[in-house]
Amino acid sequence: MFKVLLLTLCVAFIASEVNAKKFVAYKNPTTALIAMQVCRNFGGHLAAIESDSDHANALAAVTAKGFTFQPNELWSIAGCDSGVEGEWVLLSQNRINTYSKFLPGQPNGVAGDAENCLAYNTSADDPTNTLWDDVSCDAATVGFICEFK
Ligand SMILES: *[C@@H]1O[C@H](CO)[C@@H](O)[C@H](O)[C@H]1NC(C)=O
Repeated sequence: MFKVLLLTLCVAFIASEVNAKKFVAYKNPTTALIAMQVCRNFGGHLAAIESDSDHANALAAVTAKGFTFQPNELWSIAGCDSGVEGEWVLLSQNRINTYSKFLPGQPNGVAGDAENCLAYNTSADDPTNTLWDDVSCDAATVGFICEFK
């Protein structure tokens, strides 16, 4: 009985390690698609936020480096909806992200407009609230979050 429990825990641990995403934040003013290339050059890709734990870990990656979130300071993450409005494609993985974590009132882009990239933005009304915003792919971002296996 004990051996079975131990084996189960072991397998669960290995499975979580295999799926573990490691997020690293870089504070370098740039834009979303350049950030995507930089992450690739580092051997990873722009962070794909696909669960509440990914979301928490991505925010933690920024604060772990001593950076703080400020209203209107954008941090690029993976996701592009220039194909179908509202369908956020993870370009590096070529799949649609079914998870989302938008600020109230976001996304506010409409089909054909230029807000086709994703970033963390911080609410001016509540500076403790940092969630997704749809932004122009050319928007100036203060930094970006890469994901590594
Ligand atoms: C980011 O959030 C700020 C503060 O709420 C807002 O004024 C700004 O328009 C947002 N930036 C973008 C690019 O949507």
